[in-house]
Amino acid sequence: MVMRRVAVPAAGVLLLAQAALAFTPSLLPTLRAAPALRPAVAPRGCSLPKLHTSLHATVSDKEETEAAKKQPVPGRGALKCKPIGVSFAAPDVRLSNEGMEKVVDTTSEWIKSRTGIEARHLLDGTDTVRTLAVRAAEGALAQSGLKGEDIDMVIVATSSPEDMFGDAPSVAAAIGAKNAFAMDLTAACSGFLFATVTAGQFLNNGASKNALVVGADALSRWVDWEDRNTCVLFADGAGAMVLTATESLDEAGLLGFEMHSDGNGYCNLQLPFTSEQKEIGGGVKVAQGSYSPISMVGKEVYKFATRDVPRVLEEALVNAGVDASEVDHLLLHQANIRIMEVVADRLGIPMDKVLHNLEEYGNTSAASIPICLAEAVASGRVKKGDVIACAGFGAGLSWGACILRWG
Ligand code: ACO
Repeated sequence: MVMRRVAVPAAGVLLLAQAALAFTPSLLPTLRAAPALRPAVAPRGCSLPKLHTSLHATVSDKEETEAAKKQPVPGRGALKCKPIGVSFAAPDVRLSNEGMEKVVDTTSEWIKSRTGIEARHLLDGTDTVRTLAVRAAEGALAQSGLKGEDIDMVIVATSSPEDMFGDAPSVAAAIGAKNAFAMDLTAACSGFLFATVTAGQFLNNGASKNALVVGADALSRWVDWEDRNTCVLFADGAGAMVLTATESLDEAGLLGFEMHSDGNGYCNLQLPFTSEQKEIGGGVKVAQGSYSPISMVGKEVYKFATRDVPRVLEEALVNAGVDASEVDHLLLHQANIRIMEVVADRLGIPMDKVLHNLEEYGNTSAASIPICLAEAVASGRVKKGDVIACAGFGAGLSWGACILRWG
């Protein structure tokens, strides 16, 4: 599939053509025949100049950052909850960079040097997003020592659910969480971070006692496998974490957080709905369609991440009352090792404190943080009491950070 791109001279970037073909495999034959597909939301709302301007730090940006660093935001400090179990599941099918050379015009060396990725795991239809989510959830539950019925809240963070109406209830049912309410949350690669903080609010205010937060995505379903700019990056997987309410803030394991979004930059990374108008009878027209493959203006996302992720981590650290020197592990969304290096450098955190496993799993979107945390806990690298500074970032644009104390 070839996606036509159009130049936007004013912004100096490339945008996906609005007429890209739709990509849902089951609908592909029908939609390929469709004469004119277009995004359901016109991209003119995406103000690239504004985002572009904001990507270049100015004196006032720096002053703003300094001020933000010093002032904790009320209500964004510790929450009375702590993480007590984490696990993950990845598809069996593993595609190395060398294997990727047979799929698109790329080299193993290009992918590794530009991103740090060496392999990725992909769904081939044996597993699904839901079965991965359930396996990860079962593992996290077992580690927590709780039973399914002890869980009273389930959030599945995903942008690629098995069912557009939501996967969380079926995941809850599969692990026996019969006392839980369950919902999906969509915030792309920030999803797990946003879901963890959301669950933390319910645990903190006493509305829930034990929460399961899952990050699960299968972006292999939504990349254009002829677009080497994106298909080498994204992969599939699920990670899950159990959080429990604590009696006091002294025992808290979610020490502080900060979250942001800027829809002005949404067109830099999107998986847009595209539709065609159909007459359904009686002169009534409706717009039906599917989703177009992921499009990304990689350089803009890179600039956004390297500027805003250090800032949001600093904000979360201030809200948590934790100094960067007290951080045992830095855990970022596993998008690009070069982004991790820049962020770590900006925070003065040495690379040996940076957790990463994108070498093996690629960018699994909402799943990447819990997958990496689960491996680090399982290997004994993350120990009880360790402080972990986490940050998610991605489409939306959205980004956020939280400071966890493990166990
Ligand atoms: N193999 C070989 N060459 C490639 C490939 C590939 N897979 N992909 C692109 N190229 C080429 C380009 O065509 C370009 O060639 P040209 O100069 O002849 O035009 C050249 O390599 C350089 O391409 P750039 O886009 O400039 O490469 P860059 O150094 O910016 O790296 C990357 C690209 C890795 C995508 C980087 O921009 C990046 O990491 N951006 C951030 C992405 C990210 O963090 N996403 C996270 C959010 S994900 C989510 O929320 C779902």
